[in-house]
Amino acid sequence: MTVATTPPVLVTTQESILRIQLHRPDKKNAITAAMYLTMIEAIRQAEQDPAIRVMLLTGAEDCFSSGNDLADFIDHSEIVVEDSPVFHFLLTISQASKPIVASVGGLAVGIGVTVLLHCDLVYASTNALFRLPFTHLGLCPEGGSSLLLPLRVGYQRAAELLLLGEPFSAAKALEIGLINGIYNVYELEEAVWQKARQLAALPPAAVQLTKSLLKRNQAELLREVLLLETHHFVERLHSPEARQALQTFMGRKKPD
Ligand code: COA
Repeated sequence: MTVATTPPVLVTTQESILRIQLHRPDKKNAITAAMYLTMIEAIRQAEQDPAIRVMLLTGAEDCFSSGNDLADFIDHSEIVVEDSPVFHFLLTISQASKPIVASVGGLAVGIGVTVLLHCDLVYASTNALFRLPFTHLGLCPEGGSSLLLPLRVGYQRAAELLLLGEPFSAAKALEIGLINGIYNVYELEEAVWQKARQLAALPPAAVQLTKSLLKRNQAELLREVLLLETHHFVERLHSPEARQALQTFMGRKKPD
């Protein structure tokens, strides 16, 4: 096994699988600009290396990701959309030709959920809890979710998840078609690894062609939507609604 980077994103390769692990436990795997850049690099590496057949995206047992780093939203609200690491990350992952398997343990919030819409096989632990809290934060959908979520789960369910922004369980995620399967916490890692190996053992050109045909219809529109959502999202970051919600989160005190 080779270790290519150090925390907060661990990138390792084993057999023909490139594994990207979010590893920022003190901040519940909140994703910073630097972490997006590391993930972009890892995906590019996987795409260019003929020995890599599958990518595996994972986090910790109790937390996949708490979403974009909210402090980054406050510090870097002057971002230019086309230059922003998160926009480039979303473009890169959405255009990846090799299959991506995701393993979701515990919490998945914001982009911790929307990134799953760009993965091909998604498995979660029984303790997984998903949430799209954008409206609560004065923000709007991102990650292509305004297009992909209704396509995946139907308009009414997508509207409920994106408008009300309430947490939902792994069982609900499975029922509505957001994920492929659920495993016990202690079984998830091994089960997902087996799925990735199964995929990696198949003829790679056939696998990649299948993925590209599955995604062909939405590719151009998705790029447009990613850009539109990111423009609105950046605008929203400057809104009084969002500033207040973000300051409230960052300023909250933990009970003694
Ligand atoms: N960005 C930055 N820091 C975050 C974060 C985020 N998205 N999510 C959690 N953290 C930090 C907390 O500020 C805290 O840091 P501190 O110990 O220095 O105060 C640490 O991670 C642990 O978080 P905490 O809230 O104490 O853990 P919890 O188990 O009680 O709750 C969450 C976990 C994920 C439910 C909660 O932290 C949360 O709601 N986070 C924000 C999620 C979010 O809105 N994401 C963005 C969507 S666009």
